[in-house]
Amino acid sequence: MITIKNVSSLRGTLQVPGDKSISHRSIMLGAIAEGDTYVRGFLKSADCLATIDCFRRMGIVIESQKGNQAHFPDLKPDETTLVIHGKGLRGLSAPEGIELYAANSGTTVRLLSGILAGQNFSSHISGDASLSRRPMRRIIDPLSRMGILCVSDNEDDRLPMTIMGGQPKGIRYDSPISSAQVKSCVLLAALYAEEPTFYTEPALSRNHTELMLRACGANLKTRKKSGSDAVTTILYPGPSLSSLTITVPGDISSAAYFLAAGLITEDSEVTLNGVGINETRDGILRVIRAMGGDMTIQNIRMEGQETVADITVRSSDLRGTKIRGSVIPTLIDELPVIAVMAACAEGVTVIRDAGELRVKESDRLAAITDNLRKMGIRVDSFEDGMAIYGGELRGTDIDPLGDHRLAMAFSIAGLVSDKPVRILDERCVNISYPAFYDDLASLFTKKQK
Ligand code: S3P
Repeated sequence: MITIKNVSSLRGTLQVPGDKSISHRSIMLGAIAEGDTYVRGFLKSADCLATIDCFRRMGIVIESQKGNQAHFPDLKPDETTLVIHGKGLRGLSAPEGIELYAANSGTTVRLLSGILAGQNFSSHISGDASLSRRPMRRIIDPLSRMGILCVSDNEDDRLPMTIMGGQPKGIRYDSPISSAQVKSCVLLAALYAEEPTFYTEPALSRNHTELMLRACGANLKTRKKSGSDAVTTILYPGPSLSSLTITVPGDISSAAYFLAAGLITEDSEVTLNGVGINETRDGILRVIRAMGGDMTIQNIRMEGQETVADITVRSSDLRGTKIRGSVIPTLIDELPVIAVMAACAEGVTVIRDAGELRVKESDRLAAITDNLRKMGIRVDSFEDGMAIYGGELRGTDIDPLGDHRLAMAFSIAGLVSDKPVRILDERCVNISYPAFYDDLASLFTKKQK
């Protein structure tokens, strides 16, 4: 349990840890590329370690190195990087006698399934209790259309499940949801097909897989449908993937907690350096602007395929806004902390088209609604979102339900609530941000007792 008390001010500069989505993809694409992939800034959190563990079980050697200046000239001598010894598209070996365990990580199981679809062995994958409640039909459906047999151990298409590797066929797939996990699963399986694959989603979800695949030499195009938000990604059959040298940008989803904290806490100024601001992830920046937040974005630069910047926020009087439509996939993981910002804003914030939040690590729509109400905030609830009426936050006990993003978002609420907020089990932050509480404490201008 951790207690977060009201603070009078937050000041300082942070380098948030590496992007979780890009860290997962660096291991996965590194494993199926030819030769060695070098990764700087890899996020060593429980989710990404689950991906490493799965690939090690399939014979991929992944090592830590210190001071690899040959690949990263400005690396500090004691900074650790990773090297993944890739074995090519079909170089994985069957994880003998053991099942693959994706722990809490939806990205691990869904992306890995696409790669397993093209192997010449079958695999059994399981996950923890939370992941075992999450829907897998969304990947079973397209993989089955690609001719791959995926069988869940239970009636309702949840984990554990078996994937019979083989020869995926190229398909045309119109996804009912904007999900980068589903899109990436299909694109990774499509690497093994002899025909092109056309994947259409209602609005563009994060495109890290596409950017990294293109950098590895894959033949990939994106087409936007005129008069609609729908985007089609086409992957053509191509050569083997070449290995990469990757610098992982800071995770905007982790930066989001401190952006919110700096805005809602009085007398504050917080700078976050090296944050990835890829336009498929930057929805929170657009929301901060719409809410009237005082924010400066500086030093915009490219880190490989990804755009990175330094972001400073200062205490602001926020106002309510509307968040719906194609912006939703670009801020999907930030909605819990955006809801906390909304609770501190003047007026009403309406969030719609966010039904996907019901099938994350917890039902986040229900959890945000319940906990904000517990903190004295009026929330009207909808099937696909909520309306949050700004007010005074009251301190209370919060059960984060094992969901890292709820624990971090409601910790930020504790910085401005009248009485302390107690997060009943805060250890779930290890899923994406093991040093979250140390980084938060580094911004305190006075020690919390
Ligand atoms: C992720 C995609 C998102 C996001 C998740 C990470 C990814 O999920 O919520 O935390 O790395 O592709 P969906 O694509 O299912 O929305």
